[in-house]
Amino acid sequence: NLGIINIPVNIHVVYSNAQQNVSDNQINAQIAVLNDDFRASNNDINQVPSEFAGLVADSEINFTLANTFRHSNSTSAWSTNDAVKDAYPPVSPSTHLNIWICNISGGILGYAQFPGGPSATDGVVVLYSSLPGGSAAPYNEGRTLTHEVGHYLNLRHIWGDGRCNRDDFVTDTPTSDAANYGCPSYPTVNCRTTDMTMNYMDYVDDSCMYMFSEGQKLRMRSIFESGGARESMLN
Ligand code: ARG
Ligand code: ZN
Ligand code: CA
Repeated sequence: NLGIINIPVNIHVVYSNAQQNVSDNQINAQIAVLNDDFRASNNDINQVPSEFAGLVADSEINFTLANTFRHSNSTSAWSTNDAVKDAYPPVSPSTHLNIWICNISGGILGYAQFPGGPSATDGVVVLYSSLPGGSAAPYNEGRTLTHEVGHYLNLRHIWGDGRCNRDDFVTDTPTSDAANYGCPSYPTVNCRTTDMTMNYMDYVDDSCMYMFSEGQKLRMRSIFESGGARESMLN
């Protein structure tokens, strides 16, 4: 048992105007959301329906802000081709989660690299306006980062990116047909089971996602075990 896993975080704020240069207060609020969500101390956790209440997980993964780097750059919006990481490489990616906060083109809220990829591009990128209090409503409560860090820690989308027959490699998350959006009513039934629409790895609004499952916790934590892809983070 690894106990509480603490992950130090390096933030790279890359901005072309004042709005994109998010404040330290906003960054702190974002880290607080991340910790609440990963520790199941989010104040909407009690909205989980009884069907899934027994599956709610405290992942016992905790995040601590280590460094914030600020970079002014004339690029007004970055694409998902990792150019922002080439311009500002990750700092200590074998021991630190690197997060780039910037404007992203194409209506993308964020993207992440799964464990086991190249260290030069390891980390997650999130849209500056998705931070708590940002302008990207209904995606402005900081849960884009929760979702992306889920990917960074090896979680797939809850519907397995497939049509009832694709797996997210987590046994306690019900099979689903496709992404859910907005704020689905309960129960939303697909593939003959109730979708866990309130899971962070679905595509619903920030205010309508509020849990990780025990199976997701196991999948995330296994990458820190001996031989796992993020074992090096535990010094
Ligand atoms: N579409 C993005 C992804 O697949 C992020 C979705 C985040 N959803 C949200 N409610 N913030 O990685
Ligand atoms: Zn995703
Ligand atoms: Ca599943």
